[in-house]
Amino acid sequence: MSRKILVTSALPYANGAIHLGHLVEYIQTDVWVRFQKMRGHQCWYVCADDTHGTPIMLRAEKEGITPEALIERVHGEHTRDFAGFLVGFDNYYTTHSEETRACANEIYARLQAAGLIDTRIIEQYYDPLKEMFLPDRYIKGDCPKCGAHDQYGDNCESCGAAYTANELNNPYSAVSGAKPELRQSEHYFFRLSDRRCQGFLRRWTQGEGRLQSEAANKLQEWLGEVGESKLTDWDISREAPYFGFEIPGAPGKYFYVWLDAPIGYMGAFKNLCAREGLDFDEYWGPDSTAELYHFIGKDILYFHALFWPAELQHAGYRTPSKVFAHGFLTVDGAKMSKSRGTFITAESYLAEGLDPEWLRYYYAAKLSSSMEDIDLNLDDFIARVNSDLVGKFVNIASRSAGFIVKRFAGQLCVCDESLPAINAIRARAPQIADHYEAREFSKAIREVMALTDLANQYVDSVKPWELARQPAREGELQAACSNALNLFRLLTILLKPVLPALAAKAEAFLNVAPFVWHDSDTVLAAGHAINAYQHLLTRVDKKQVDALLAANRQSLSATPPPAPPPPAEPAAAVAVADVAPAAVAAAGPAISIDDFLKVDLRIARIVEATQVEGADKLVRLLLDVGPLGSRQVFAGIKAAYEPSALVGRLTVMVANLAARKMKFGISEGMVLAASDADGETPGIFLLSPDAGAQAGMRVK
Ligand code: MSP
Ligand code: ZN
Repeated sequence: MSRKILVTSALPYANGAIHLGHLVEYIQTDVWVRFQKMRGHQCWYVCADDTHGTPIMLRAEKEGITPEALIERVHGEHTRDFAGFLVGFDNYYTTHSEETRACANEIYARLQAAGLIDTRIIEQYYDPLKEMFLPDRYIKGDCPKCGAHDQYGDNCESCGAAYTANELNNPYSAVSGAKPELRQSEHYFFRLSDRRCQGFLRRWTQGEGRLQSEAANKLQEWLGEVGESKLTDWDISREAPYFGFEIPGAPGKYFYVWLDAPIGYMGAFKNLCAREGLDFDEYWGPDSTAELYHFIGKDILYFHALFWPAELQHAGYRTPSKVFAHGFLTVDGAKMSKSRGTFITAESYLAEGLDPEWLRYYYAAKLSSSMEDIDLNLDDFIARVNSDLVGKFVNIASRSAGFIVKRFAGQLCVCDESLPAINAIRARAPQIADHYEAREFSKAIREVMALTDLANQYVDSVKPWELARQPAREGELQAACSNALNLFRLLTILLKPVLPALAAKAEAFLNVAPFVWHDSDTVLAAGHAINAYQHLLTRVDKKQVDALLAANRQSLSATPPPAPPPPAEPAAAVAVADVAPAAVAAAGPAISIDDFLKVDLRIARIVEATQVEGADKLVRLLLDVGPLGSRQVFAGIKAAYEPSALVGRLTVMVANLAARKMKFGISEGMVLAASDADGETPGIFLLSPDAGAQAGMRVK
């Protein structure tokens, strides 16, 4: 029976690049969705960028663009990266959409009608210079325990103490450097502590198979014993200025990003409904019989297993069938690190020419249904891809297809269905399907590889390459190669959820329609003609992996800084400490003012900004330097800026740098940008003058 299934992955924040950690989730979900589609189910996979919140607002401001322009650019980058890794969303949308706004307003109105919205006065730090309330992560100060300077508002990196922002000594705003004041404002709350919510969540979280057992235990802990009420109300509003949706009937108050983010699942699906002619209520209405699954990382379980179902339930929608949480990615046994080069962006992986299916295969070979972390061990990655995929699997086809094409005009003869390897594949396919269904991908892969070994044993026993040298044994050669290609075909079907591009190439050379799961019940008929063999997959070269690490070590990734911009005040030391701990430790040797004045720094307006064909780091800028005329400069800022977003903005340039002939043309100067080459804050930050500066003005 065909099932109706709606699947989501968590919505990635629109202020950062997709990295290999994210891809654990999107690849896991994609494999599962592809499996469901191959089984003939009606399965929809939606996702979106999570676009709201203070960090996005501040980042756009720093780049000198609107938040709308920022999220549009990032949407393009994310879409490109996901497509590059063959993540086949049916819709990749944005939370900054009218569909999401309408759903958020509706849910809010229904919760209000149910008496589950409350208001309360909250006291919070306020930045009098920026005129905004500060989230804890934007407050820094001295650790209340050990006194270390410049610590964030939640814990001390020096001594490890945890505290609240209010406990910091000498607090300052990491946005402006100003001393924050405590101010009061009215906030809106979702009354999670209400008996209805507690009662509902107790039942819901214990629902059969709804949560993994580890997750159910966590929830039990959060909920407390029956009679105990451990859940507190959830603050769902933020004060202007904020980038998000204004709360209806509450001018100047905005929905907190985590209120509208999961609602973005609905918005993305609603948008898909319009395109595909689907009925939204069939999937989200209270009587929906469709299945709804959320794939998430374990860090956001609280939001998906408490807030979200409680919201849906009390706003008259259906609740998720199951929530699937996965663990975090480590690389070579450690947390991804920018200094080691293991904080690897999706973009750099593809740009360095690594095959996305290598990673898909490796992740599948490691993933299970548990919440345990998964490790990308780079040596193991190379070994496994080369031995399993290339050495064992692809080899079956490459060794037999040539003979069929050259010696038998592409024609197969009858497949021997009594072969032990064929029988084993048939016998194990249902079990492998169960493993995919249960997200036990590592078990599925282990089984497929055991079957691949059997297939190779068959090929080794009949030795087509020896038969090929004996003219009298033509018939045996054709039979051996036909059997081998049938084995390869069956194995490809079983691996197709993981390796969709390879499967498509196999379908093309085998000259067959796209594989569905039940194709594994049949073999190719005698007389079926195949096309010329197409190269399927290359081996991983260790050099490629080394180059990938090097690229992520030096070239600062396009990931934006989670840390806020340096304060203008109070002390320069603070500004430097905020972004460049390495740089502050030792300034360069002293120079005289005359030395400094030799550098002719000017305000320049970016008139044109274009990509440079064949250069992956450079952007070509045409600068207006007022009385000095216009200058062409090649700047290594492509990782951080979309050229079109730069046009019109002011920056600072070195106007008397000797012109330099480059491969792409002459560079007549240099623009100034900050970066933290050795530290943990990635990115390149082009300098901008305050408003009022004019092109050509001298900077000193
Ligand atoms: N925007 C929120 C999710 C809102 S869902 C309504 C968010 N975004 S995120 O960009 O930080 O993460 C997106 C997903 O990627 C999350 O499920 C998160 O757990 C996952 N991962 C991010 N880094 C990861 C690893 N290093 N390893 C595995 N998964 C990781 O959270
Ligand atoms: Zn401390």
